[in-house]
Amino acid sequence: MTATPSAPSRPRVLSGIQPTGRFHWGNYFGAIRQYIDLQTAGEAYYFIADLHALTTVRDPALLRGYVRDAALDLVALGLDPASAALFVQSDVPEVTELTWLLMTVTPMGLLERCHAYKDKKARGIAADAGLFTYPVLMSADILAYDATLVPVGEDQVQHIEVCRDLAGTFNHLYGEVFTLPKPRLVEAGARVPGTDGQKMSKSYDNTIEVFEDPAAQKKKIMRITTDSRPVEEPKSPEGDHLFELFALLAPPADREAMAERYRRGGFGYGDVKKALVAAAADHFAAARERRAALAADPGAIEAILASGAARAREKAGEVLSRAKRACGLSRPAPGDAAGADAGRRGKGR
Ligand code: TRP
Repeated sequence: MTATPSAPSRPRVLSGIQPTGRFHWGNYFGAIRQYIDLQTAGEAYYFIADLHALTTVRDPALLRGYVRDAALDLVALGLDPASAALFVQSDVPEVTELTWLLMTVTPMGLLERCHAYKDKKARGIAADAGLFTYPVLMSADILAYDATLVPVGEDQVQHIEVCRDLAGTFNHLYGEVFTLPKPRLVEAGARVPGTDGQKMSKSYDNTIEVFEDPAAQKKKIMRITTDSRPVEEPKSPEGDHLFELFALLAPPADREAMAERYRRGGFGYGDVKKALVAAAADHFAAARERRAALAADPGAIEAILASGAARAREKAGEVLSRAKRACGLSRPAPGDAAGADAGRRGKGR
């Protein structure tokens, strides 16, 4: 590769993950796995969005626990802190400052159209200003790092559009301050059914957690709903949620053999469940080991998060001062002609 590190061909990847509970298979196969795969595509920033979680998690001890678990889970699952910056959102105060700057260019109507707020309101739930302005904080998250590529689930694409909108308005007013990001839709590849066959989601209470205690996980798997067709009947593996789960977790050869058993018939769902228990254990065995080792060393994850935050703050600090200079919020140091000039340079930056 001849490209220099700052060449625009190397994407600056960024995503945030809300710590609102333990990660389940749906989170992992639907999103986290893809985020982690992207850590080598360019410069990567991944953070745990505790400020966003504050709009829903009201128990301080619980929130602290979720943040720590999220960090341990992500590293155990393959996020490499030597390659990607892993940090906690609230450890980068530059982002909340930038949120205010963006707030002043945010039309109320734009936020009123956002699904997260609209849906809550439609269900009669009282929204606070935190939930209402959630997309502005998210925009600051993205713009603070000059991110070019933001892997997100379908439900977050609208928020990226808001971000592009705000960045565009700010740039129009003050010059080319912000880099416009592009969403990268994940999820499309992986449909992850829950224990009842619907999409796996906490709100359906049908999840299987990645690092759930093995005995509890086995119980849940053995209770996955199945149909009552006779054992002998040949069945199609396609569209069978038990098979779909097995296919996600098992090595390709085992997947094929299982598909064959379905098509032949003469097998019981109990056997498939047992095979799924074993496949899940194997699939995450190395991650479980890494997680246990990391959790046993109390300072380790904190050190990772501290160094991630330092890297993040360095970048966010640059962008914030660029933005403050552009909109007239910084005064030049005495005798600093370049500083005095910066505001007026605006568009030509
Ligand atoms: N709102 C995102 C979610 O719920 C999490 C998030 C916060 C995020 N800030 C972000 C995602 C910035 C991408 C970029 O999934």
